[in-house]
Amino acid sequence: MLAVMRVVHTVPELRQALARPPVLVPTMGALHAGHLALIDRARAAAGPEGCVAVSIFVNPIQFDRAADLEAYPRTLESDLEKCRAAGVDVVFAPAADAMYFPDRSVTVLEHSLSKTLCGATRPGHFDGVCTVVLKLFHQFRPAAAVFGEKDFQQLAIIRRMVRDLDVPVEIIAAPTVREPDGLAMSSRNVRLTPEQRADAPRIRQALVAADSIRQAQPGPTAVLERTRAAIASPLNRIDYLELVDAETLQPAPGFSRPTVLATAVFYGDVRLIDNIRL
Ligand code: PAJ
Repeated sequence: MLAVMRVVHTVPELRQALARPPVLVPTMGALHAGHLALIDRARAAAGPEGCVAVSIFVNPIQFDRAADLEAYPRTLESDLEKCRAAGVDVVFAPAADAMYFPDRSVTVLEHSLSKTLCGATRPGHFDGVCTVVLKLFHQFRPAAAVFGEKDFQQLAIIRRMVRDLDVPVEIIAAPTVREPDGLAMSSRNVRLTPEQRADAPRIRQALVAADSIRQAQPGPTAVLERTRAAIASPLNRIDYLELVDAETLQPAPGFSRPTVLATAVFYGDVRLIDNIRL
């Protein structure tokens, strides 16, 4: 749309920078190839003349641990360079006080899909995600927004929010981008020690192996037990490993409906997530 990328920090500036409804990629920055794939997907949806917008905001209200919020990487200058190179038209990078009133008192609560998996171990996390994403949708008024399947539960919850609240935004899903050794790309990967980084690809390997376990022993118990054993190492701690119905996110009793095997694993205080459809 615009030859020069606009970088704005307040909502009035943002409204002024957007000549037409964009395709939005919401992020918390520390951009990697996974985010850039979402930006490419947004460009494909917007078309060469359309507007692609990125938000970069480390959303404090979705962090359940203060230490995680503090340690979250913040690399705005290099993020802007990556956005420029990727052909982004508008970047919105607000400060926390441009996003939230000190006496804010309205929150979006999802009461079903957010109770399992990451929602069970990170209380309030998805309320914070829904609240900021709905705010971003009102601020950008995008035609569409792109989300990654790596955060499979987040994607399902945002689809539910858009459905239940009649939010006029098309939600586009993009596949998980991985390192050559299979580790899902994440802004948190840079916080792994070399030993932890070398160990972490076992998460993906175990999830892939689960598919063949399922062929041989189709019960969920065998799949969960053997995958748990394959992920576990002296360097990590499994936060959860669950087999859930792909739609309801409730524990799946079998494989008669589409299922997702999802896990969260701690290396030290770095929490990594991944999932696979079975
Ligand atoms: P963040 O973790 O920065 O992720 C932004 C988007 O990038 C999400 O849609 C996420 O699913 C996607 N993403 C991250 N890693 C990916 C990978 N390896 N492959 C493909 N996509 C990937 O998710 C958030 O931020 C926040 O919760 C947010 C939605 C911005 C709300 O604050």
